Amino acid sequence: MSLMSDLKILYHMALRPIRGKSHAERLESFYSGQAEAYDDFRKRLLQGREGLWQKIGSQPGATWVDMGGGTGANLEFFGPEILKLKKVYVVDLAGSLLKVAKSRAEKNQWSHVETVEADATKWQPSEGQVDVVTFSYSLTMIPDWFAAIDNALAMLKPGGMIGVVDFYVSRKHPDDELKKHRWSTRSFWPIWFANDNVFPSSEHLPYLRYRCQTQWLSENRAKVPYLPLVRTPYYQYIGLKKS
Ligand SMILES: C[S@@+](CC[C@H](N)C(=O)[O-])C[C@H]1O[C@@H](n2cnc3c(N)ncnc32)[C@H](O)[C@@H]1O
Repeated sequence: MSLMSDLKILYHMALRPIRGKSHAERLESFYSGQAEAYDDFRKRLLQGREGLWQKIGSQPGATWVDMGGGTGANLEFFGPEILKLKKVYVVDLAGSLLKVAKSRAEKNQWSHVETVEADATKWQPSEGQVDVVTFSYSLTMIPDWFAAIDNALAMLKPGGMIGVVDFYVSRKHPDDELKKHRWSTRSFWPIWFANDNVFPSSEHLPYLRYRCQTQWLSENRAKVPYLPLVRTPYYQYIGLKKS
């Protein structure tokens, strides 16, 4: 962690305008100047990723797709177990982040890790059905997030696992077993994140619960670098594809 690298990231997150006509162009405009410094800052901002990976646990022989996988930082959470997986796809629309993921895989000689520049709402693996699909802080950046969930379920085997960790806000009137956020939380975070085209939603979690058989859900709050007084809500979710 260095102050210069943080300042660069904060400039990209808070000040530099995001340009581009398509979603892919806007992502590249946002990420191209911060790809190399991305991991260090996001380690502090994007909480709960390692916990989700631990909860999903060892999956020997599995094919695992990390949707919106960016720099492939999540690959580190597998530890030595990564070698037991049959295949790992890191799918992302931002070429500059995927370049970091590709060199990470090459450096570690993970020859079964493939980076794919593609849209998470449409891409399907050529070999057919897969065992696990994860989204870590990517659903909030995918405009058609419902299509991304549908696409993930379409590629999963019956009983296959979907894991999500992301920012969110609650509905005004959530289901009884879910946390309820007050008005200020529900209003502030969507406005705060919208500057970076990140859209914490009250609807992702209900849709996941509707489409999948819920295995595990944890609703939490995380510190935000340089904002000591606030905590942003995030959730971790594991569901199975209904047969
Ligand atoms: C906040 S980053 C998270 C990256 C990574 N999952 C992590 O935890 O570090 C969100 C990622 O979603 C990707 N993304 C956004 N929309 C996408 C789409 N439609 N298809 C594929 N990737 C997408 C972005 O390019 C970016 O890499």
